[in-house]
Amino acid sequence: MAGHLQNGIIEGIDFSETMVDVAQRKNKKYIDKGKVKIRLGDFNDMPFDDDCFDKIYSVNTIYFWKNPKAGIARIHDILKPGGKLVLGFHDKEQMDKMSLNEDVFRYYSTRDVADLLSNDGLLNKVDIISRKGKQNALHCAVGIK
Ligand SMILES: C[S@@+](CC[C@H](N)C(=O)[O-])C[C@H]1O[C@@H](n2cnc3c(N)ncnc32)[C@H](O)[C@@H]1O
Repeated sequence: MAGHLQNGIIEGIDFSETMVDVAQRKNKKYIDKGKVKIRLGDFNDMPFDDDCFDKIYSVNTIYFWKNPKAGIARIHDILKPGGKLVLGFHDKEQMDKMSLNEDVFRYYSTRDVADLLSNDGLLNKVDIISRKGKQNALHCAVGIK
């Protein structure tokens, strides 16, 4: 993504030191140019100003959200008006086959995620876009503030 960026900056956040190290190493060239910033932190705190992002995306993370409704509400706050949220995820049917620890992972159907984004009229034009891979499908929920 950083290679396609014409202007602006990409910010990333993860609370795993290992993942932050990996991401910082992979993006060093862009970090040095000031195009990418990666911080160690908890997404639930979202230490960002309101109305500051054009786009927010997150892939395979919704399963870990402690309070999904509050998470979407906070994303809404930090998106600019007209900004876009893209959430990539595998649905409940696929997650059920993976034998994961259900105390850690929370499963969602595509309907659940679409409802979450449009809950209380928070995001508009909510769409689910699905692409089939060899083994399973990845869904993207897209919503506009
Ligand atoms: C399953 S990985 C997904 C990584 C990558 N997006 C992918 O699809 O391959 C989930 C990542 O989210 C991070 N994560 C989970 N909960 C988080 C939170 N509350 N705040 C910040 N990072 C979190 C984990 O540390 C992990 O790196």
